[in-house]
Amino acid sequence: MSQSQGSAAAAPVRAVDVIRKKRDGQELSRAEIEYLVRAYTSGEIPDYQVSAWLMAVILRGLTRAETSALTDAMLHSGDVLDLSEFLAKKIDKHSTGGVGDKTSLVLAPLVAAGGLVVPMISGRGLGHTGGTLDKLESIPGFNVNLSVPQFRKVLDACGCAMIGQTSEIAPADRKLYALRDVTGTVESPYLICASIMSKKLAEGVDALVLDVKTGSGAFMKKEEDAVFLAELMVETGEAMGKAMVALITNMDEPLGMYVGNSLEVAEVLDVLRGKGPEDLRELCLELAGWMFHLGGAAETVAQGRSLSQQLITSGKALEKFKQMVALQSGDPHVIDNPDLLPHAKHALEVTSQNSGRVAAIDCEAVGTACVVLGGGRETKEDAVDPAVGIVLHRKVGDSVKAGESLATVHYNSETRGLQAKQMLLRSYQISDTQNVVKKKLVHRVIQGSRGK
Ligand code: URA
Repeated sequence: MSQSQGSAAAAPVRAVDVIRKKRDGQELSRAEIEYLVRAYTSGEIPDYQVSAWLMAVILRGLTRAETSALTDAMLHSGDVLDLSEFLAKKIDKHSTGGVGDKTSLVLAPLVAAGGLVVPMISGRGLGHTGGTLDKLESIPGFNVNLSVPQFRKVLDACGCAMIGQTSEIAPADRKLYALRDVTGTVESPYLICASIMSKKLAEGVDALVLDVKTGSGAFMKKEEDAVFLAELMVETGEAMGKAMVALITNMDEPLGMYVGNSLEVAEVLDVLRGKGPEDLRELCLELAGWMFHLGGAAETVAQGRSLSQQLITSGKALEKFKQMVALQSGDPHVIDNPDLLPHAKHALEVTSQNSGRVAAIDCEAVGTACVVLGGGRETKEDAVDPAVGIVLHRKVGDSVKAGESLATVHYNSETRGLQAKQMLLRSYQISDTQNVVKKKLVHRVIQGSRGK
């Protein structure tokens, strides 16, 4: 019988063994994680094996070493941009995902109008949350699929560009993100950290502002989970030499009044015109303040906020948005005439059955109602309907009389419209007490040491 001699070559890694190891709660090696990411990205291993592995991660978690290996493997699944030819600081903002969260569309042009460079690589809707790319694509013609040279060209011309992961940038995240969306494997801080940080580190930014959502419409429902994720991401970014800050912000109700792709673009245009709902404007100013501060364009966040306000009042931020839309093949007339955005064929009202105050809104249910309308995806292959969505007329703390409208559903399919209406009705809690506590917009700030 022969015996193995000396230093035999390591056995090849097999997907099934990696799945079993994680299923049994063991720590994976860097090589195993690198194999899984590389083989999935290249199509060597199928969706069903990676789905099983993702579910094992949801149930078992990852160690810091595994999270860092996963982030690294996803980051290096494509190119890491070198934007050193741009002299201004490169900065971005990323949100962990929410309902009605359209701040990226305000911030990219706003911060670029203030002289910083914003190379934004975003994602699509995930689970019940909306995605920046789906929103942008509701602008007729807007192309989020730029190649890296085209991306650089737009950045050079206007200081901001907004695209999705390409086969060149973080392609592993593109595939994993789409798979997680439809396999119930979104809500893991480790997977969210690796997904966000791999895209953001690939952008070649100097600094990053994270908006970590907490509440009924967030992936992290509990504040302590949001803080855990924020610390994980700040730590990961700092280890890669980036100035980092994370704001823990409220997602117990949708942000702004509009939920749905083209509706949200219309609300973005309002904010860039100095109008729009108070909560959305306030969060945009706070995040922009931090972006200017970390990017070295403002000494303090307060100065960054007032610079942002000036850029909105002067119309420079809106002009920058128009420029970016045109450069990415979108119809720039939409900016002056939002009626050119896609509209749903029908609308119906969701009326309150009782009088009182809105005590709570199940924010995830609002996001899911939008997905049911067709504004998000139920399966990986689903096309998104850009026109459908929900306009809220009441938020937490508002009073309402029986028979008054809580929300309007914009729909294209009657069955879906009625289903969304029922979901919205159930999502509103109307109370007869006057003492409704409205949560603060920014709960906490977690700052890395480089940004101080
Ligand atoms: N946003 C991302 O980019 N990835 C996630 O996993 C969640 C939110």
